[in-house]
Amino acid sequence: MSAQPTAAFKHITVKPISGALGAIIGGVDLSKPLDAEVVAEIRRALVDNLVIFFRDQDLTPETQKAFGRNFGDLHTNSFFPHVEGHEDVQLLIKEPDHKNTIGDRWHTDVSYTKRPALGSILYAKETPPYGGDTMFANMYLAYENLSDTLKGVLRGLNAHHSARENFAKRAAEAELPGSVSGGFQYSDDVEQDAVHPAIRTHPESGRDALYVNSVFTKSFDGMTKEESAPLLQYLFTHLCRPEFTCRFSWAPGSLAFWDNRCTQHFAVNDYHGHRRHMNRITLLGDEPYLAEQPDPKHAAA
Ligand code: SIN
Repeated sequence: MSAQPTAAFKHITVKPISGALGAIIGGVDLSKPLDAEVVAEIRRALVDNLVIFFRDQDLTPETQKAFGRNFGDLHTNSFFPHVEGHEDVQLLIKEPDHKNTIGDRWHTDVSYTKRPALGSILYAKETPPYGGDTMFANMYLAYENLSDTLKGVLRGLNAHHSARENFAKRAAEAELPGSVSGGFQYSDDVEQDAVHPAIRTHPESGRDALYVNSVFTKSFDGMTKEESAPLLQYLFTHLCRPEFTCRFSWAPGSLAFWDNRCTQHFAVNDYHGHRRHMNRITLLGDEPYLAEQPDPKHAAA
């Protein structure tokens, strides 16, 4: 089963963009306060479609945050540069002379914290004339399309997530010319390690999703990095099979709201020589859990 069938909506329109996940939402102006029924429909559209997109929105950092707060508390990211006066609005800017970009490997946001982000809300201020799309992948499908034996093994495993290596490298790059990492701040003091189940149950849909990612997941608990690497590598290749994905092309005023509990995303870095400016907020989530105990027949020792 891919994204779930969408029941009737009274206040918004919902148009799926692929068989795997993703839908364009219409009929709503996100710059205005939203009434509870509209918020409930948007939440349902998100849970059904995993990532939802809005076009032609005119948002300030304040109204982007007000929209986000309808769905939870905002998470302040201690590493990323932010919009002046708004610690919780991260600035993702690639300048024409930048070579690298943020997010160009499959990942889910802030999985290195104990309570990783429920969702992220990315708003396009300036987009290149071509390219700069974001891809998304459905982690329910990634899980459901594993063999029963591997599902059983993974249900018995926890995984270590860490930002240390990746963010230290990014901070070092920030010193270099032509780096998108300008303003990136690295500190050992903030939370950047966590252990989570390899398969997590979505608290709203009740479905199980694969929860390892190529940026932050380093090893399985109780196994060495070397022992973990072949299985992780297999999963990183498997989870982004084209039939599990969708791709979104941005224009100024577009907004994407994705559910980090059951998706991963990838920022395509194919627009060198052009500027792309996005403002991102993330919503604080719950501690990941797996609802059922592992099947003892399949669980790893
Ligand atoms: C990210 O949150 O990883 C960035 C996505 C993007 O810029 O498209």
